[in-house]
Amino acid sequence: MNCVGKTFCTFVLLTVTVAMIPMDNIRVYKIAGSSVNLTCGDISRVDLVIVIWKIRPRTGNHCQLAYRTDLNKTGRTNCSERMDWKSSPDTDSALQIRQVTLTDEGCYTCETFTSDGTFIRTYTLTVLVPPAVTLTCDSKGTAVCKAAAGKPAAQVSWDPTGDPRTELENHTDGTVTVLSIYSSKETSITCLVSHPAWNTSQSKECTSDMFLQCFTICAGLLGIFFILVFIFFCKRHCGRICC
Ligand SMILES: *[C@@H]1O[C@H](CO)[C@@H](O)[C@H](O)[C@H]1NC(C)=O
Ligand SMILES: *[C@@H]1O[C@H](CO)[C@@H](O)[C@H](O)[C@H]1NC(C)=O
Ligand SMILES: *[C@@H]1O[C@H](CO)[C@@H](O)[C@H](O)[C@H]1NC(C)=O
Ligand SMILES: *[C@@H]1O[C@H](CO)[C@@H](O)[C@H](O)[C@H]1NC(C)=O
Ligand SMILES: *[C@@H]1O[C@H](CO)[C@@H](O)[C@H](O)[C@H]1NC(C)=O
Repeated sequence: MNCVGKTFCTFVLLTVTVAMIPMDNIRVYKIAGSSVNLTCGDISRVDLVIVIWKIRPRTGNHCQLAYRTDLNKTGRTNCSERMDWKSSPDTDSALQIRQVTLTDEGCYTCETFTSDGTFIRTYTLTVLVPPAVTLTCDSKGTAVCKAAAGKPAAQVSWDPTGDPRTELENHTDGTVTVLSIYSSKETSITCLVSHPAWNTSQSKECTSDMFLQCFTICAGLLGIFFILVFIFFCKRHCGRICC
């Protein structure tokens, strides 16, 4: 570029940069612990000058990875070691994040400088944490379905449907524990938990042991009754038969 003055030059550069910024921001959802590859888009590598990945997590330090074609040199500021070029940056500008964690959530911008202009692509990474589901049922017919430490909060429903009481507990890392407390007279109830980290909802069933308990108590009482009757008859007919 043959610029006349410094101001003009800056203006042209700014215009080029602004003109190239795409309006869309690509949203990426990843399950904690998985890996993700982010690409800079289809940009010819022939005229490539510099590629910079600007990493801005919502919490924590910003960092950068850069590659200069003319020197075939890479540079990085203090990025997590889990974030690196997917392969060699002289052949591929993609960024790879291994074993994503909640702290990796944020903006990832690839700035590609070529002789044709500047290309910018921004991703917003959201990390999903699947909750741990447990169901406990007590003998009074109260069932507690717990979806622990999920992000976002899990959706809990019941079969048969009822009017459960829901309690939420927000954790500092952004995960939420959902407790759904349900009282039912049904012998069998199912807790259904759905979460964006799963394709299908998870279900847990609890069979009320009320009938079993009732049966045991009734059988016990009947047993005692028969023993008493037996003793009674024995005493009564003692003289004639037993003795
Ligand atoms: C990312 O790229 C690496 C290297 O090519 C590959 O092994 C890995 O499976 C890719 N990961 C995803 C989530 O596509
Ligand atoms: C690198 O990390 C230090 C703290 O560990 C921080 O003060 C600094 O700003 C970071 N550098 C960059 C370029 O973000
Ligand atoms: C750039 O450097 C890497 C090693 O740092 C080397 O493997 C690669 O072949 C070089 N690429 C070019 C185009 O010189
Ligand atoms: C948890 O956070 C949600 C919104 O994110 C809020 O509506 C709710 O009241 C919070 N619950 C507690 C117990 O802090
Ligand atoms: C959901 O299902 C699709 C295809 O059925 C699969 O590619 C994807 O990996 C599944 N996702 C999860 C989180 O299991």
